Amino acid sequence: MANKITMENQDWKTIGFGYRKTNYNVRCYYKNGAWGPLELSDSEYINIHMSATALHYGQEAFEGLKAFMGKDGKVRIFRMDENAKRMQYSADGILMERIPLDKFQEAVKLAVEKNMDFVPPYGCGASLYIRPLLIGSGPQIGVKPADEYLFIVFVMPVGPYFPEGFKPTDLLIMRKFDRAAPQGTGKYKVGGNYAASLTAGKKAKAEGYSAVLYLDSREKKYIDECGPANFFGIKNGAYITPESDSILPSITNKSLMKIAEDIGLKVERRRVPVEELETFEEVGACGTAAVISPIKRIYDDDLDKEYTYGTEPGPWTTKLYEKLRAIQDGDAPDPYGWVTVI
Ligand code: PLP
Ligand code: COI
Repeated sequence: MANKITMENQDWKTIGFGYRKTNYNVRCYYKNGAWGPLELSDSEYINIHMSATALHYGQEAFEGLKAFMGKDGKVRIFRMDENAKRMQYSADGILMERIPLDKFQEAVKLAVEKNMDFVPPYGCGASLYIRPLLIGSGPQIGVKPADEYLFIVFVMPVGPYFPEGFKPTDLLIMRKFDRAAPQGTGKYKVGGNYAASLTAGKKAKAEGYSAVLYLDSREKKYIDECGPANFFGIKNGAYITPESDSILPSITNKSLMKIAEDIGLKVERRRVPVEELETFEEVGACGTAAVISPIKRIYDDDLDKEYTYGTEPGPWTTKLYEKLRAIQDGDAPDPYGWVTVI
């Protein structure tokens, strides 16, 4: 490799969440009805047909997971089996070829192993973000699934998605934008949902909000997705998170539901009417990139109504965050086998 990148003298505290070149990525091609071997690449570019279905008809799904450096110098990947399953779920949702679960996990491990120098040090607040990507690479001009697919795993060191990190931010409710249709692709991790969210997201950010809190697209009655994260609220000793056909089943949320039970919260997964925002003691957004982003204020733009939750993270939110992060870093036992040590 000509110019090997190093992370010497990196200020990890200010690294932010963005693309960064690392030294290697892993690729796998589906052709003639079969997946080929994993291949290691040092190029950031791919060469695909101009009529690839990913480019025209949105046959594209991605994943996001993280690896963490422990105090013991070991690197831990969080719940990659869940991401492997979810990528198959997304693939099924838009008729792409499934990447086998073991191939997904082998590719993730290889991408981490080959970029060990980019795993941020223990305790610095940054981590290695792993981005698996599956695209229809074969040509079609009729609206049909491709015959060829490309699976790639690349990685980069990142800080928290919301620059505030574990500090409360604000959310915006707007009824004139939807990210997904009621029976559409909202539950899959496919690019089209993110394209659909760009305009609303830009507007919210321009007005100083960290994300849009979407209501259900059919009735605008219930809380749905929270930008690139799931929503939760806490009240009367219960962790409450929306049940909806159009939100992504978040692996962070799934983990927090388990931790919530462990720390004595009741867990409720159900429809959450927007008026219920009035009654929560704490609310947050959760996801791999966001971890937990506590929320201090939600503004409903259409009703000119605001809900406030205090300017510091609440006690339950703090406990959930600390427990989750301790398991990820290897500072706490891993009773559910969530972590793969490299
Ligand atoms: N919802 C959306 C729309 C997302 O993009 C993400 C990020 O992956 C999440 C929720 C959180 O999911 P996870 O915790 O699996 O990262
Ligand atoms: C993640 O949390 O992994 C995400 O995919 C969120 C965002 C960067 C799209």
